[in-house]
Amino acid sequence: MKVLPCIFPQKIYKNNCKIFGIYTDHNLNHLSAIIKKKYIYNIEKILKKNNLNNNFGKIILIYNNFKTSYERFLFINCGKKINFSQDLFIKIIKKIFFYLKNCNFKNIYINFSDFNSNLNNIYWNGRNFIDIMENVNYSFNKFKSNKNKNILNIKKIIIQIKKPKYLKKLKKSIYHGLSIAKGIKLTKDISNTPPNICNPKYLSLAALKLKKIYKSITTKIFNEHDLKKLGMNAFLSVSQGSINKAYMSIINYNGNFNTINKKPFILIGKGVTFDSGGISIKHSSYMDEMKYDMCGAASIIGVIDSIARLKLPINVIGIIGSCENMPGGKAYRPGDVIKTMSGNTVEVLNTDAEGRLILCDMLTYSQRFNPYVIIDVATLTGSCVSILGNAASGIFSNNKSLLKELNYASKKINEKVWNLPNFKIYKKYLQSNIADFSNVGGKYSGASIASYFLSFFVKKYKWAHLDIAGTAWKTGKNKGATGVSVKLLCQYFLNYLKNH
Ligand code: BES
Ligand code: MN
Ligand code: ZN
Repeated sequence: MKVLPCIFPQKIYKNNCKIFGIYTDHNLNHLSAIIKKKYIYNIEKILKKNNLNNNFGKIILIYNNFKTSYERFLFINCGKKINFSQDLFIKIIKKIFFYLKNCNFKNIYINFSDFNSNLNNIYWNGRNFIDIMENVNYSFNKFKSNKNKNILNIKKIIIQIKKPKYLKKLKKSIYHGLSIAKGIKLTKDISNTPPNICNPKYLSLAALKLKKIYKSITTKIFNEHDLKKLGMNAFLSVSQGSINKAYMSIINYNGNFNTINKKPFILIGKGVTFDSGGISIKHSSYMDEMKYDMCGAASIIGVIDSIARLKLPINVIGIIGSCENMPGGKAYRPGDVIKTMSGNTVEVLNTDAEGRLILCDMLTYSQRFNPYVIIDVATLTGSCVSILGNAASGIFSNNKSLLKELNYASKKINEKVWNLPNFKIYKKYLQSNIADFSNVGGKYSGASIASYFLSFFVKKYKWAHLDIAGTAWKTGKNKGATGVSVKLLCQYFLNYLKNH
């Protein structure tokens, strides 16, 4: 599938379909650029007869006998013109792509000015269009014998535009959109891969692959011996019950050229390829979904893939901790006291609170790079799922402006985040009478307690934590990874570059 932004009119390929947005309260005059006036009356009649007018998002397909090179016309009701917005544009484009999934049209023509009177929106039209297209087009059928692909069967999508001065903006938005979409796809593919295949080694190799593709990336993999030498005992404790060894991957993206900011952005991802809970074992219902406990790590790989495609002039270091949390004779136990890399000791009260133990060592390690900011992404707590469901990722930070920037990025890309507190008061829940603190803090406000635990390890730097436990995958019948936070972090970087 190719997306071609073009000045209108241009070549019309065979087996095509032209898409038109129709406003309830407007006439069809805009069709006259393509269809002779005398036919427009006929179309009006057909649309009326089929009740296009009354239903937002309703689609009517008409096979052409209006003497144009377009073979079909797809009309979609966009509601009242004054109500039209970017949010409704997104809804409309979704409906169009879901409809096209069941068609076999090879060449699709669309003009965004049919949907939007204000072409200043063209950048976000383009970004949203590509985002939705790639999302609808995604399927994970690597492990199916019958690869009956439930995806779009389109060859070319031609985005038509009348005014040449908008072409540059449109091209940029498509380039941004596709670069980000490819990172999202990579994240989804890694996340969806089953845990007997996507084990800690597989995940670390997925990070290594980036180095082979991009000159701007170097990846270094640390094995258990290296981790031991670094003193990452908290991380290693989580892993010790598994026969699969732990790895840490450091992905270094160097957007050399003329970086304004030499200090690196650090992205840390939780990569537990299967979280059984360990000795504090989980209930068996939905336990299969704990293969998604590496979605944080997968999203960091996706973000770095995207920014390497975009060639952003920043420095980013991705740090991924991959391991399994398993019960067994060698597993760590409730009651164990562990010395973290920071030197602080932790009493393990629940082996299922493993994410923070992995992250705390990576947070400690990350500070040797003298970072500009540190952002960690993790499927960290069931508590966050209780609070927000799958409506938003929870976000925590020790810095107001970073929080603001991430919220701003989130609004732009329609991927919701919700600020949750990182109050000092949570410290008292983590008291231990034998170690510096414990790894769990009672029944309530678990997402904030986990966040407070993490914040303890980053005192000097700007830091944010994204809890994606509720947003990283869809559960039940539509089980599958969402690739959440790739778009968010890419947008955060794009905005940063715009403002500096
Ligand atoms: N990976 C889980 C969090 C999780 C649970 C994500 C359900 C998505 C859905 C994490 O390692 C975990 O088990 N957290 C515990 C912590 C508790 C023992 C303090 C939790 O939230 O139940
Ligand atoms: Mn757990
Ligand atoms: Zn976990």
